[in-house]
Amino acid sequence: MKIKSVSAKIILDSRKEKTILISIKTNAGRTFSASSPSGKSTGKYEAKPYKKSIEEDIEAIKQLQEYFTEEILEEFCDLNMVEDILDGHVGANTLFAFESAVLKAIAYEKKKEVWEIIDSNAGKTKKFPRLVGNCIGGGKHSNMEGKKPDFQEFLLIPESKSPKQAEEENKKLKEKAELLIKIKDKNFNEEKNDENAWMTSLNEKEVLDILNELNIPFGVDVASSGFYSRKKYHYENPMLTRETDEQLGYLTNLMKNYNIIYIEDPFNEEDYESFSKLLTKFPDSLIVGDDLTVTNSKRLQKAIDKNSINAIIVKPNQCGSLLEVKKVCDMAKENKIKIVFSHRSGETEETILADLAFGFGADFFKCGITGKEREAKINRLIAIEKKLK
Ligand code: PGA
Ligand code: ZN
Repeated sequence: MKIKSVSAKIILDSRKEKTILISIKTNAGRTFSASSPSGKSTGKYEAKPYKKSIEEDIEAIKQLQEYFTEEILEEFCDLNMVEDILDGHVGANTLFAFESAVLKAIAYEKKKEVWEIIDSNAGKTKKFPRLVGNCIGGGKHSNMEGKKPDFQEFLLIPESKSPKQAEEENKKLKEKAELLIKIKDKNFNEEKNDENAWMTSLNEKEVLDILNELNIPFGVDVASSGFYSRKKYHYENPMLTRETDEQLGYLTNLMKNYNIIYIEDPFNEEDYESFSKLLTKFPDSLIVGDDLTVTNSKRLQKAIDKNSINAIIVKPNQCGSLLEVKKVCDMAKENKIKIVFSHRSGETEETILADLAFGFGADFFKCGITGKEREAKINRLIAIEKKLK
């Protein structure tokens, strides 16, 4: 496959914010497009989404397109050539959308699915990631007036390895959660946040009580870097601060008292040591790095050296390079670290995340439960499941 021309334009994500859509036209005359999501509670160590601005990245793509026309792109590792050309000229969102469009073109040319371009064996092992569905939101993801939970996400994690069954279960439980919130939260007005999770004025303990009633394994994304400053965690509901050792004590307590099997970013994005202390206490729970590791192999290596995590969030646009995503996944597998492919809070209807998760052998797929941008991805995973049956 050869690229004949490239175009890039601005589209709006689910938050009505600008993001990038890349289209490549191949020598066979077909066009393949892909877009990038964008985060709100972004990690400090994430790659920049655009070099300077989205508009300048679009201009850079236009200027560079002639360099692509001679390259022959046939396999996943040929993304090397793409990165040689784009490196240093565009940001991570642009690179991710570009590489996604290239993978779609290669797959079409080879009459294969995108996931097969990553690993054709995935079709034999048929390992589907377990769904991790955002049910209730707080922190930076909630614009609830007044009180709200300080933790950012409360996640349902059905046992089923069938995406179809897990999706059905999550939808039912999200409705049940709504009824339970209604009983306890006088301010509840059935509003949903960016990821289509319920917004509530309850605090995290009250939300955890509700989740306990659902009788399902669940997780939390503390997203603690969002409320960490001057060496303290600043809670608002109730209003209090916790020093690092108090944060460790508080989370230890929650994990002992609730059915929490998964805890993401329990500590600030620099604090590899506290992650490690929590992992030592709870080796059988999932201690997950997101802002800590930002889909970056160097930061993952540090987390491995310090025994900080046993699971890692993979958000391809945190680094932009799918070669780096592969490196992170390979490294995680070698070190028995579970892989959690994840959407972002600002999403498009792009579905390649499902192919990437399946192709890279992800253990979990973190997405919303409802909303067209989230359902599109889960439906793609279900379509892969159906085809392989
Ligand atoms: P983001 O947050 O997509 O807004 O960065 C999601 C997360 O922290 O997991
Ligand atoms: Zn997170």
